Amino acid sequence: MSNIVVVGVQWGDEGKGKIVDLLTENARVVARYQGGHNAGHTVIIKDEKYVLHVIPSGILHKGKTCIIGNGVVIEPKALIEEIEGLRKRNVYVGKNLFISGGSHVIMPYHTLLDGKNEESMGKKKIGTTGRGIGPAYCDKMSRTGFRMLDLLDGGRFREKLKANIKDVNFLLENKFQNKKLSLEKVNSEYMRYADYLAPFITDTVVLLNKLIDSGKNVLFEGAQGTLLDIDHGTYPYVTSSNSSVGGVCTGLGVSPRKIDGIVGVMKAYTTRVGGGPFPTELNDKLGEEIRLKGGEYGATTGRPRRCGWLDFVSLKHAIRINGFTGIALTKLDVLDELDTLKVCVAYTYEDPYKRCECSKKGVACRFTDMPQDAMILEGCKPVYKEVKGWKTSTQGVKKLKDLPKQARAYIDYISESLNVKIDIVSTGQRRDEVVILRNPFK
Ligand code: GDP
Ligand code: IMO
Ligand code: MG
Repeated sequence: MSNIVVVGVQWGDEGKGKIVDLLTENARVVARYQGGHNAGHTVIIKDEKYVLHVIPSGILHKGKTCIIGNGVVIEPKALIEEIEGLRKRNVYVGKNLFISGGSHVIMPYHTLLDGKNEESMGKKKIGTTGRGIGPAYCDKMSRTGFRMLDLLDGGRFREKLKANIKDVNFLLENKFQNKKLSLEKVNSEYMRYADYLAPFITDTVVLLNKLIDSGKNVLFEGAQGTLLDIDHGTYPYVTSSNSSVGGVCTGLGVSPRKIDGIVGVMKAYTTRVGGGPFPTELNDKLGEEIRLKGGEYGATTGRPRRCGWLDFVSLKHAIRINGFTGIALTKLDVLDELDTLKVCVAYTYEDPYKRCECSKKGVACRFTDMPQDAMILEGCKPVYKEVKGWKTSTQGVKKLKDLPKQARAYIDYISESLNVKIDIVSTGQRRDEVVILRNPFK
């Protein structure tokens, strides 16, 4: 029996969907613990491309139990569309999918407010996915949110909606000069969703713990990445949930004692979508080339992803927080054509306010631990080490010995510098384009 977590190490889009799909073979259950339909997890099976948003990527395998945990926020319309989209492609979604009664509901005003808040922030906007994630988690914490189980009691739902809509309409009218939402319209829309989703809603804490206790292997699927974690990411340029490993326990009601392995999915370079500091960003032709070769466009919003070099400083931070038992290093093939690669080993920073000892002495600060303050991180300059490229195709390579020497040297350099074990190296989009050095389930 073994229960493994898959977590994004960077700013999301590391290839978690592919790794979850790969590891699902060894699992009986796949469970999502946080986030919502801001996530886009791509899985390529043969020539078919699937992008999963809220439904665990394990749904694409027959006979697996898929759970959406209490830590997830659900936009019912988007979830129904996702279910119907899969069914149209002959993927079975029925008695294999369970939704926690405790997961929170994204309401139309959450989506609306997400957009309005962003607009009002101007240049400082976060660059959210516009899916209502932040406002929905905000209501969860304010204890005014709806949980999926609230949808099952029409009377209670309407009563609470009446109070919520009153507050929201005040804000919409007075702060944003927006037209009001209709209580009746929202109520009847959500009651339709309730009818559709009711058969899926259950107490997933009881279900999941029973499955674990009966010896079933579980894969915990993370969304986003550690640097987008609300507590440990580059706040405020983060998402609104705990995307790092801690989210598993709170987002599914599972004891940390039941976690046997934590696989960090790490891109062989770095990408970020939306705003916020990114010290190793390449704002040049090379950044553009990596974007093109890596197909770095958002799976959910289609936005171009910002691209840059691997960053050991932020990776060390992510490793410290998650305690990875192994790493799945993805998209190695994207770097195939480069003469030289760079890796950031430290940051330098010149404090404009001259607050620190270094600046008083007239020298720049040097950080090997990631500063907590996004404003400081914004001003950090990377210190690079150069690594020789391999200039040979690695696409589809399945054995370590078939990887070019310099590519293996890059992998070893990452592993040794960060003191992490590399379990998997991914060399392409497809399920079988992978070198497995150690199966996390064995
Ligand atoms: P996720 O959100 O972490 O699941 O990642 P996304 O699906 O948003 O983005 C990862 C993208 O990289 C997808 O288009 C994947 O098909 C693709 N991908 C994953 N692993 C590899 C790889 O090893 N090589 C290449 N070239 N593409 C990959
Ligand atoms: P997956 O699971 C990459 C980013 C947004 C924005 C910030 C806040 O596919 O890796 P939000 O809508 O969550 O309030 O936006 O977080 N973001 C992601 N970036 N991958 C994701 O998910 C993301 N989900 C949110 O771009 O910067
Ligand atoms: Mg994604």
